[in-house]
Amino acid sequence: MPTPVLPLADRYGRVATDLRVSLTDRCNLRCTYCMPPEGLPWLHGPDLLTDGEVNRLVRLAVERLGVTEVRFTGGEPLLRPGLVGIVAAAARLTPRPSLSLTTNAIGLERLAGPLAEAGLDRINISLDTLDPERFVALSHRRRLDDTLAGIAAADAAGLTPVKLNTVLIRGINDDEAAPLLGWALQRGYELRFIEQMPLDAGHTWRRDNMGTVAETLARLRAAYDLLPDPAERGGAPAETWLVAGYTLADGRPAKVGVIASVSQPFCAACDRTRLTADGAVRSCLFSREETDLRALLRGGASDDMLAERWRAAMFGKLPGHGIDNPEFLQPSRPMSAIGG
Ligand code: 5AD
Ligand code: SF4
Repeated sequence: MPTPVLPLADRYGRVATDLRVSLTDRCNLRCTYCMPPEGLPWLHGPDLLTDGEVNRLVRLAVERLGVTEVRFTGGEPLLRPGLVGIVAAAARLTPRPSLSLTTNAIGLERLAGPLAEAGLDRINISLDTLDPERFVALSHRRRLDDTLAGIAAADAAGLTPVKLNTVLIRGINDDEAAPLLGWALQRGYELRFIEQMPLDAGHTWRRDNMGTVAETLARLRAAYDLLPDPAERGGAPAETWLVAGYTLADGRPAKVGVIASVSQPFCAACDRTRLTADGAVRSCLFSREETDLRALLRGGASDDMLAERWRAAMFGKLPGHGIDNPEFLQPSRPMSAIGG
């Protein structure tokens, strides 16, 4: 008899089916909205979940908690030596979850093929600029060429349609909204703009410096005709628009997405649960509380006990992130240690 699935429900009627697993807090870039230039005190090796521990928690999430989508993130997940094996293990689960990766694409030239073969279904790549100097200003590393090579490799390996994520920062790269879309359309990639959230390690985020989705759409509309997308949005955070006159290689209409995490929060439709690289469950990016599963795991807990603890952690999920509340406090972990 298979174990019954008891889903990750909360007291507001939401059910989490989308698991984000952070595989490392390290990164080879230092995007200003995420990490300070000098880096952060990294987690110590023994504190990280081992590959076997990650595999066990992913299995339990899929088999007992009703998780249907698993996304691997970081930090930069390509820096995790066991990544390909972790993806392959997840691909062997029943029911087979959909598997995706959020990455800066540095190193993907080598890994795109093996990852696709291991069963990776989809990929999201961060790309904030096409200008090498701006790339340095935004990420403190001269790596634009590596990122572009990684994007091409993902496309060649069939991880398509390649999805790109862009964070626009007012006065820094917001003039690239239309050029980035043009570049993506030409190659058949799907671009999405994400509003910058208060998750930087330096706690320098200010609502007034954030480029809003409304501004981004205005910039795009100056160059392209955007039509409402008739497709259902569901729990998806991106609001998508069809770009008139453009199609993907397979003939489907080309789209552009905007994610208004701050100006129009989608918390009421959130279907996510998160696991940090050191084995803590977070019910939200902005949680100020987390639930440690690693101690239980290493103390010999059964699958039942782990699943029950995970359910309890999610039941307490707050209704929203409250970024606009005067009493909002940024979480103590920055984005790189939570996972995007
Ligand atoms: N606000 C919005 N998006 C962010 N990302 C990282 N930090 C932030 C932030 N503060 C994005 C990255 C990547 C994904 C993991 O999240 O650009 O695409
Ligand atoms: Fe690295 Fe991603 Fe953070 Fe940039 S946003 S520093 S690529 S983890």
